Amino acid sequence: MKVMIVGGAGFIGSAFVREANRRGMKPLVADLLTYAGRRENLVGTDHDFVRADVRSEDIHGLIKEFSPDVVVNFAAETHVDRSIYKPQEFVTTNVLGSVNLLEAARKFDFSYVHISTDEVYGEECGDENSPLRPSSPYSASKASADLFVKAYVRTYGIKSVIVRPSNNYGPRQFPEKLIPKVIIRTLLDTHVPIYGDGKTERDWIYVEDTAKVILDLVERGEMRGEVHNIPGGQRYSVVDVIKMVGEVMGKDVRVKFVNDRPGHDRRYCMTSKLRYTVTPIREGLRKTVEWYLENRWWWEPLTNDKFFLDDEPWRV
Ligand SMILES: NC(=O)c1ccc[n+]([C@@H]2O[C@H](COP(=O)([O-])OP(=O)(O)OC[C@H]3O[C@@H](n4cnc5c(N)ncnc54)[C@H](O)[C@@H]3O)[C@@H](O)[C@H]2O)c1
Repeated sequence: MKVMIVGGAGFIGSAFVREANRRGMKPLVADLLTYAGRRENLVGTDHDFVRADVRSEDIHGLIKEFSPDVVVNFAAETHVDRSIYKPQEFVTTNVLGSVNLLEAARKFDFSYVHISTDEVYGEECGDENSPLRPSSPYSASKASADLFVKAYVRTYGIKSVIVRPSNNYGPRQFPEKLIPKVIIRTLLDTHVPIYGDGKTERDWIYVEDTAKVILDLVERGEMRGEVHNIPGGQRYSVVDVIKMVGEVMGKDVRVKFVNDRPGHDRRYCMTSKLRYTVTPIREGLRKTVEWYLENRWWWEPLTNDKFFLDDEPWRV
């Protein structure tokens, strides 16, 4: 199977490249290499690489030339704080970029696997048929793209599927996100800011588990516009997760409660019709902490980033 991975130099995309390699595939990775996309994430993997913007017509030429059976789209602006600070790129990359790939799917014969998020459901619990209630500019852009995927399946009959994972954690996640932020700031002996009361609940899944479930769907090949939720089934508050990371590290995590992020969803809690096993959170956290301890070279250059350093980085 010929697989093209757009956004494959990011956190989940690079885990997906590794999973594809484990199953004997050599994918083509197309990625713009924004702040979050790094060739370093792909060290040790077998892939072809091309630098490309998902929003550009060039991507159609690449698809024509490579002639993939499947295109998986991980390319996105992904950080909620950044979307509050400056939303525009979330619209161009997440919405227009996805529509650009949908346009390619009209012209060329491939299956389009669209990576969405549990955040599109907002804080109400539900399943794949629940209404979309996005709260942030990030989740609004993801929900918009999902609606375009559904429209293209219905109107043009393209082959596609929408995948909605919950909060991923694991190696190679950019330090702006909660778990790497806790690990790295604690290693650097600085406090960790907690938004609001820290009781917001997220459903945590180890990134390799997500990659496996998505590749299982790709291999199964049913592409009739279905939505597939991928929850981790392990719901913990921010405060609980920080406590667990501290226990795994054997260190006291210093926390500082700061103003809540505007529009902050209290929880995400979707169910799924898929059946799969997941890594228990303490085991996943142990692997994650070990990776950050062993790979300082990877994260040290990233520690001067505003969204890692500031306590309330969404403030303009
Ligand atoms: N990380 C999570 O917890 C999580 C949870 C649910 C869903 N998702 C979704 O999974 C996908 C991947 O998330 P991630 O955490 O790996 O994100 P990430 O920020 O680590 O990686 C995003 C990748 O997209 C690339 N990219 C950005 N703009 C691009 C453009 N215009 N053209 C080409 N490439 C571009 C970046 O260079 C990077 O490699 C996203 O769609 C995200 O919304 C993530």
